[in-house]
Amino acid sequence: MSTYRAGIIGCGSVSHMHMRGYQSIDSIDVVAIADPVEEALNGFGERYGIPTRYKDAREMLDAEQLDIVSICTWHKLHAPLTIVACARKPKAVLCEKPMATSLGECDQMIIAARRNNVKLAIAHQRRFNAAWTDARDLIAAGAIGEPRQIVARGGQGLLNDCSHLLDMMRYVLGEDAQWVIGNLERKTDRYERQTPIEDRSAGIIQFEGGAIGLLLQELAGPNYQGGVFYGTEGIIELDERKVRLLSSQSVGWEERQGQGEDPNIAQARELVEWIEGRVEHRGEASNGRAAIEIIMAIYESARLHEVVQMPLRTMASPIERMIESGDLPVERPGPYDIRAFLLWGEDMSGPTFA
Ligand SMILES: NC(=O)c1ccc[n+]([C@@H]2O[C@H](COP(=O)([O-])OP(=O)(O)OC[C@H]3O[C@@H](n4cnc5c(N)ncnc54)[C@H](O)[C@@H]3O)[C@@H](O)[C@H]2O)c1
Repeated sequence: MSTYRAGIIGCGSVSHMHMRGYQSIDSIDVVAIADPVEEALNGFGERYGIPTRYKDAREMLDAEQLDIVSICTWHKLHAPLTIVACARKPKAVLCEKPMATSLGECDQMIIAARRNNVKLAIAHQRRFNAAWTDARDLIAAGAIGEPRQIVARGGQGLLNDCSHLLDMMRYVLGEDAQWVIGNLERKTDRYERQTPIEDRSAGIIQFEGGAIGLLLQELAGPNYQGGVFYGTEGIIELDERKVRLLSSQSVGWEERQGQGEDPNIAQARELVEWIEGRVEHRGEASNGRAAIEIIMAIYESARLHEVVQMPLRTMASPIERMIESGDLPVERPGPYDIRAFLLWGEDMSGPTFA
């Protein structure tokens, strides 16, 4: 059996999920890690017994001949570091969600992967939740009839939680978006992991089969980490662990617990199967891109005051354009980052677009 040399870029919270996946697969060996913050680098290295540590990701990539590279940094670094990694021609790159902060960046990542023959996957690991696949199979088998509406609630801006929720809609329905209309409010100078985000937003998404998705970001009640799918013959309530099904064929609600392996392990296992040519990875980059396309279409609808038809042709981030051009004036000044608590030591670095 081949053994794949893996390296992780970024040793913060999500890198533990990648490590859990890789540690559980016999043919993957995490041989090196990179992070400019010594505390993060050494803490991670010591915890998992990885002596080969770099403060500079490029140095690691040049020295280590990696087969698999994980990108576990904040969103703004996903595109540049994926491009840097692909240029060293590993077999696969697993980049965290959201894939990028604009559609143009997603395309650059896909180009970098293609021209270097690298398999690029985005870590929408919830696709490996057994409950989500159960919901997908139930809907395909007609358990709720024709899907008509999906409602999902998220927070922390569209890119963070909501990229998972839009990916859920696409994965469970098995369909792409046709058009999007949306709006947003940004009256405070709000950032999430150094990416500018809105205070509140909503999007309506028309899917190919006619179902309408409704996404509420910090509006109307708690987040679900899932959604409700309404069909002509029933309802599915979905969260990360279970499906609740009500169908015209049944007497009451049926609760179905998702049974399956940890999604981080399943994600890593499928990466090896993809490298070996046995399957296409469920998180293949076009899926990460499609979630970003819907998010950017919601922002573009707010910018242009129109229904945005897919495919989206705006490559820049419309929310960043609106902020730069003064179309979203901050009424309560003072930048703040809702994830600043993730920074290390004395770092209080203010939000940047870099
Ligand atoms: N898939 C999921 O469910 C999930 C869950 C949590 C986070 N995430 C995503 O993972 C990403 C990282 O989030 P996090 O919570 O782990 O953040 P974090 O702040 O805990 O970790 C990020 C790490 O990257 C390091 N870093 C910064 N610049 C770097 C560089 N140039 N090279 C190498 N390392 C660098 C930081 O020092 C830090 O240790 C985000 O994009 C987030 O959306 C996804």
